[in-house]
Amino acid sequence: MRGKFIVVEGLEGAGKSSVIGLIKDTLHAAGKQVEQTREPGGTPMAEAIRECVKHDWDEKVAEETELLLMYAARVQLLTNRILPALESGAWVVGDRHDLSSQAYQGGGRGVSTKTMRAISDIALNGFKPDLTIYLDVDPAVGLERARGRGELDRIEQAGLAFFERTRERYLTLAEQDDSIKVVSAMQDMPSVHKAVLDEVNQYLKAQSNQEASA
Ligand code: TMP
Repeated sequence: MRGKFIVVEGLEGAGKSSVIGLIKDTLHAAGKQVEQTREPGGTPMAEAIRECVKHDWDEKVAEETELLLMYAARVQLLTNRILPALESGAWVVGDRHDLSSQAYQGGGRGVSTKTMRAISDIALNGFKPDLTIYLDVDPAVGLERARGRGELDRIEQAGLAFFERTRERYLTLAEQDDSIKVVSAMQDMPSVHKAVLDEVNQYLKAQSNQEASA
């Protein structure tokens, strides 16, 4: 049986890493074979694109350049890892996917909805995650946490207003799509984890009910 694709999304400092660990443990306990990916990255070529897109270049990086690099990395990952894993029956837990581009490049950078839709259609051809957990954090809080981890990369240096636009787009898109679940990352860690577990367990239950009635 084909596997499922679960994605964790959020601004810098939202706490994606620990939530990804939790989801992987939950899936393993449910007997699933699990693969983890990250975007941009996850294949040798996509990791090279990640370095390139995060680098603080001594020239203007056009919004379209950033957008195209994100999608180039995404197609490499989809072709080489995500689709083969799902076909083999594994469940894939993704650290970011298309929603990041919709929020950061579409919301933060202000790339038009028309362009965002066109590139997503060309690159992904309708492919989308089965479940997305969006960890919602106030950008000021998230950036402070990220700063505590070390120097900020080119995207992280974009400024508070950029991240406020990005967050707003995440929330707008989540409202329009039932497969995107919003979890507040501004609670204490045990409460965040409980809320994530509730969503994942609910999804697993719905899946096994569907399988049983098929
Ligand atoms: P992270 O995986 O360590 O959070 O770093 C990825 C950075 O790239 C982060 O600042 C978000 C940004 N990003 C985009 O702007 N658009 C995208 O489509 C993706 C996947 C990431």
